[in-house]
Amino acid sequence: MTGPGLFITFEGIDGSGKSTQARLLAAHLQDEGHDVILTREPGGSPGAEEIRSLVLEGDPDRWSAETEILLFTAARRDHLERLIAPALARGQIVICDRFADSTRMYQGLSRGDLRGLVDQLHDLMIGREPDMTLLIDMEPDVGLGRALSRRGTEERFEEFGEEMQVRMRAGFLELAREFADRFHIIDGAQGIDTVAADVRDVVARALAAR
Ligand code: ADP
Ligand code: TYD
Repeated sequence: MTGPGLFITFEGIDGSGKSTQARLLAAHLQDEGHDVILTREPGGSPGAEEIRSLVLEGDPDRWSAETEILLFTAARRDHLERLIAPALARGQIVICDRFADSTRMYQGLSRGDLRGLVDQLHDLMIGREPDMTLLIDMEPDVGLGRALSRRGTEERFEEFGEEMQVRMRAGFLELAREFADRFHIIDGAQGIDTVAADVRDVVARALAAR
């Protein structure tokens, strides 16, 4: 584990239950007396939230694939500088709904193979990984059904449809093998409370091991 704080991220396809589980975990750890910050990407700081609307709203072809990588990375840099790094330095637990693994998947896979470019920019401008990543895994049709049922103005990537979500799921599972030291795969097809209990167990073990 790096630094005095603990940096936990949630990853997975759209609608897999990340936001729900991030919220429940934050509440649980707070109840246990931990000092917790719950945040999300893209966004999490005022500047990064402005970039969020630039990348998630409007015409899907508004940005080239490369520009999009720059925008997500710019948002992350601001979020890291202003919120995440200071919180970890103070010893807080930071729970973040998506982080760099989402860029590796969405920008790295969706419009050609740009994973190399994503990684280069990450090394240059972000240079840190979470201590622990919880991958909420499930069949894409379940996740997409959930995501589309709460559809709003941020439909940029959900529009990609099921075939892309199938590739994303496989990509996330591959990423879990690549970063096996920090990834934990959680079965997201279970009920909300069962998923939350699995998440709590994994995090409790990590906290106990520190
Ligand atoms: P994500 O952040 O991964 O897109 P959300 O947490 O926003 O996912 O969940 C998407 C939708 O599915 C929400 O309406 C949420 O209430 C519902 N949901 C979340 N987890 C479950 C679950 N385990 N079973 C059934 N519905 C769920
Ligand atoms: P999010 O609000 O987590 O959406 P959802 O609740 O549907 O999972 O993220 C919004 C979208 O942004 C989502 O479709 C994934 C996409 N995204 C990227 O393409 N790249 C990134 O680096 C991040 C953080 C998110």
